[in-house]
Amino acid sequence: MRVLGLESSCDETAAAIVDDGRVVLADIVASQHEVHAKYGGVVPELASRAHILNVVPVVRAALERAGCSLAEIDGISVTNAPGLSGPLLVGLQTAKAMAWVTGKPLVGVHHLEGHMAAVYLEPDPPPMPHLALVVSGGHTSLVRVNDHAEVVELGATRDDAAGEAFDKGAKLLGLGYPGGVMIDKLAQTGDPTAVRFPKAMTAASTGAEFSFSGLKTSLLHHVRAHGIPEGQALADLCASYQAAIVEVLVRKTRRIAQRERLAHVQVCGGVAANSGLRAGLRAAGAEDGFRVYIPPPARCTDNAAMIAAAGYHRLLRGERAGLDLDAVPSLALPRPG
Ligand code: KG4
Ligand code: ZN
Repeated sequence: MRVLGLESSCDETAAAIVDDGRVVLADIVASQHEVHAKYGGVVPELASRAHILNVVPVVRAALERAGCSLAEIDGISVTNAPGLSGPLLVGLQTAKAMAWVTGKPLVGVHHLEGHMAAVYLEPDPPPMPHLALVVSGGHTSLVRVNDHAEVVELGATRDDAAGEAFDKGAKLLGLGYPGGVMIDKLAQTGDPTAVRFPKAMTAASTGAEFSFSGLKTSLLHHVRAHGIPEGQALADLCASYQAAIVEVLVRKTRRIAQRERLAHVQVCGGVAANSGLRAGLRAAGAEDGFRVYIPPPARCTDNAAMIAAAGYHRLLRGERAGLDLDAVPSLALPRPG
């Protein structure tokens, strides 16, 4: 089954064509980082306008790369939740128009379910059930993946997402947007033990919840007290801040993997591109005896191949969306019970 995937929930306009939820024929991403960089974050109205300009060229490019026509597509999968409402609507209306014109089946995909599907495109995907650590710009969740399209969120962040902690930290340090990439780069040459950050929600919390706002506040206090450092000191501060974020993510993940008795753990979402997190989780897995699966960095950040892969499993189950499919800007994953 050949699926066309469309993603426009935030600041990437992406289209991809994937066969049988496994074989990527085309994977096109138009990023808007330059549009938002000077604001230090995504400006929703500017994002909507950029999506409108990019969406048709991106779909055309994907079809061209795959060497097929719309008529040769078997289904259309689109991110319809959660995300920024204007940007979501651009992808959704485009997908609906294509479904209407071609008569092909349409499904809506939850963006986080899409992130979790990125690793299914790899040669050695995790078996079911497994644990997923989903870390993006807007979400931080631990999810029990019982099957494709059957997920249960065990816990999420109470305040900022891990990506937000990176982005807000980078903004504070004047590093631009998206901040995670900049902090990751600087951290490579820094000393992670140089600055001590409070351990966010350690012994007190044994659940699967996260909190990152305290960390961001301590960075703010540090900068107020010492100013923004330069050179090696900046690299040290970035390395320490990154280590504090990674430490919480790794500790919670290993605790919940143990509690749920899951021996396979995947990490996905933009922050899964972080070199410190990738290394930290692999080390924890080697120590605790769980296997770690992480998509390549380009499939951690927003793309449409993951949306096509997730949609494939829903189409396979016979799911079909009508042309009344709506964009839902905030939609949590299913919780237990
Ligand atoms: O999944 P994604 O592309 O978009 C959302 O669904 O939000 O994630 C974007 C987030 C941003 O917060 C960005 O700073 C972060 O992922 N990110 C990183 C890295 N690359 C992207 N964070 C840490 N290290 C990275 N290398
Ligand atoms: Zn995302």
